[in-house]
Amino acid sequence: MNATPPLSSAEIKKCPEQLEKFVLDLVSQMTLDEKIGQMTQLNGESLVLDSCLREQLRTGKIGSIINQVDLNVLNELQRIVVEESRLGIPLLVGRDVIHGFNTIHPIPLGQAATWNPGLVTELASFAALEAASNGINWTFSPMVDICRDPRWGRIAESFGEDPYLTSTLGAAMISGYQSHDMSNLGSIAACAKHFVGYGAVESGRDYATTNIPENELRNIYLTPFHASVKANVASIMTSFSDLNGVPATANPFILRQVLRDEWQFSGLVVSDWDSVRQLEIHGLTANAKESACEAVSAGIDMEMVGDAYSKNLASLVHNGVVDEILIDKAVANILRIKAKLGLFNNAKTDPKVLPSIAIDEHLQLAKEAAIQSVVLLQNNHETLPLAVETLNRVALLGPLANAPHEQLGTWIFDGKVSLAQTPLQAFSAEFGERLYFHPVLKTSRSKDLTALTEVIKELADCDLIVVCIGEESILSGEAHSRADIGLPGAQTQLLEALRKLGKPVVCVVMAGRPLTLTSEIALVDALLYAWHPGVMAGPAIADLLVGRAVPSGKLPVTFVRHVGQIPLYYNQKNTGKPPSDEEIVLIDDIEERAPQTSLGMTAFHLDEGFRPLFPFGFGLSYTRFHYSELIIENPNLEVNESLRVSVKLSNTGSSAGVEVVQCYIRDHVGSVTRPVRELKGFQRVSLAAGESRIVSFIISPDQLAFYGRDQRYKSEPGSFTLWVGGDSNASLNGNFILC
Ligand code: GLC
Repeated sequence: MNATPPLSSAEIKKCPEQLEKFVLDLVSQMTLDEKIGQMTQLNGESLVLDSCLREQLRTGKIGSIINQVDLNVLNELQRIVVEESRLGIPLLVGRDVIHGFNTIHPIPLGQAATWNPGLVTELASFAALEAASNGINWTFSPMVDICRDPRWGRIAESFGEDPYLTSTLGAAMISGYQSHDMSNLGSIAACAKHFVGYGAVESGRDYATTNIPENELRNIYLTPFHASVKANVASIMTSFSDLNGVPATANPFILRQVLRDEWQFSGLVVSDWDSVRQLEIHGLTANAKESACEAVSAGIDMEMVGDAYSKNLASLVHNGVVDEILIDKAVANILRIKAKLGLFNNAKTDPKVLPSIAIDEHLQLAKEAAIQSVVLLQNNHETLPLAVETLNRVALLGPLANAPHEQLGTWIFDGKVSLAQTPLQAFSAEFGERLYFHPVLKTSRSKDLTALTEVIKELADCDLIVVCIGEESILSGEAHSRADIGLPGAQTQLLEALRKLGKPVVCVVMAGRPLTLTSEIALVDALLYAWHPGVMAGPAIADLLVGRAVPSGKLPVTFVRHVGQIPLYYNQKNTGKPPSDEEIVLIDDIEERAPQTSLGMTAFHLDEGFRPLFPFGFGLSYTRFHYSELIIENPNLEVNESLRVSVKLSNTGSSAGVEVVQCYIRDHVGSVTRPVRELKGFQRVSLAAGESRIVSFIISPDQLAFYGRDQRYKSEPGSFTLWVGGDSNASLNGNFILC
């Protein structure tokens, strides 16, 4: 029944014009109803393949389905649209494959802590293969929202606060999902979301309003999406949020001027879940017809679930309110992705022809990712790595020590909890009869410490206490924001009780956000931050604690001392009154009747100062690294010249380790004020004990450019400082001039 011959992926790659001809020919044959059908996505969660649905598919009323994962059902749906409809246009089958499909990897915030793009690509390619084997051909990932507010539950899905790190890892994830050719068996279409500025919701409350000045939007929030478009992301999803008074789902500035005109994006723009009809709830429109008009005019190609398009677009076109050219462009964007996926050649899935992943191989990769995602935040008295042979009895405590579901984190729709290996399982294998385990608290939110009395008796002959605490999976992710980001329940009280025993305490935190741990760090000797590490949490944590692996994770977000400091991030502006430790007087040191101007007239909080608990980029190792011999080879830089930098990195400790070498710059003067530091490069470097290596960076001219007062992207002559080190407080620095 196909009205036009399918295009092979080779033909598409060899001759893109062929693709456009194919798409435009097909659009030219479509009725208005068939076009609107392509712009409509069906919620497949409780799908009944009845005569009504069959008729909808046969008459081209549906272009995509979401949240249906039964392969047989999906293959039948594809068969109907391809063989029984007039034009045989296959379906896009969408699913949230956010950090793994059946085999759950560390949450994206944890993957960000690896600072390892290659690993992120490999994880995404494995996830794509598992999903594709299930008939999925479109994932709503990567989430590349910049987030500076850990109260926001969706920080868990993000790569953190930095535009460069997020851009790099978002592109890496897209490459993993799509490979170099989306029609490859096992590849799926990616979707960069949520366009744009969603991470700036007021008070970190999900779905709340965002107000972001254009210059901040361009220099911070749009950056990772631009990088995604340059990485050939197949699709973009709009945000639920109101952006400067115009909700993102109907915002022509971001969807037409920036995405299409400035960036020449030729992919598919999909709304978020029912966010077209929500325009009426926002108060932008008076009814669904107006919402459909606003959204399609702004540039939404496909309505995710909801029926504003299917019920209103035809009449809007017939009444001359919406030009059918807009519809044709939207449909072309959708068909283009279907063609690039190779769906016109074959829409059905036969798992037997897909490359297979041995589950052991996948679990090994998940374990390596979990190991690299863990950040060592404190290691007093070199408590870690454990001298296992000296331990007669080890206590493993805490509500997250044996919580297979919780360790997987948020967005685990198709995750197989049965694959999860918990710390208890790994520690039992490690310590056998020497291990004593008790959760003490039933959940991370539990306030019932009645078990503690008995537990403390059992601890009498323990040499070491390992306690696994943090947040259950449900406490982060969509619609799960928190006003207080401390440890929930009675977990802090548990640490206080354990501290009194005078035994070494190793604390492992699993959470979907950076928690405020200012009082807790004094209660533990070693602190490992594991985010939600996925199925291999247990083996990864055990390997790290006993020294089979060395921590290498670095923070992708700032850890605040107090929730009241938020937003607090490393790449902040200097302000006209930057604080310094010497100048400020903190609340406990204020003399009675202190004179009005005696406390330091600068940008700080009387009760918490201005510094974070742990800075962006921070992470310890079991060894020590030393930076020296920073050389800026061309300190008088011409405009189109790349900056060449090198530094000597030495492993001055007693064990091998991996250091994430970070390179930051500061542009001291600009037509708009510039951040005090900006990450411009990083490299994971593995060194044996005693080994040294010269690490080099090339900073391209484009990386010195920014959106200035005229909102144009260009660099400006002037003086810069460059730092290289192991976190955003790096001290080793040099200066250069851009001529
Ligand atoms: C949700 C999320 C979005 C997700 C979509 C489909 O509401 O905002 O990230 O991809 O709906 O589940």
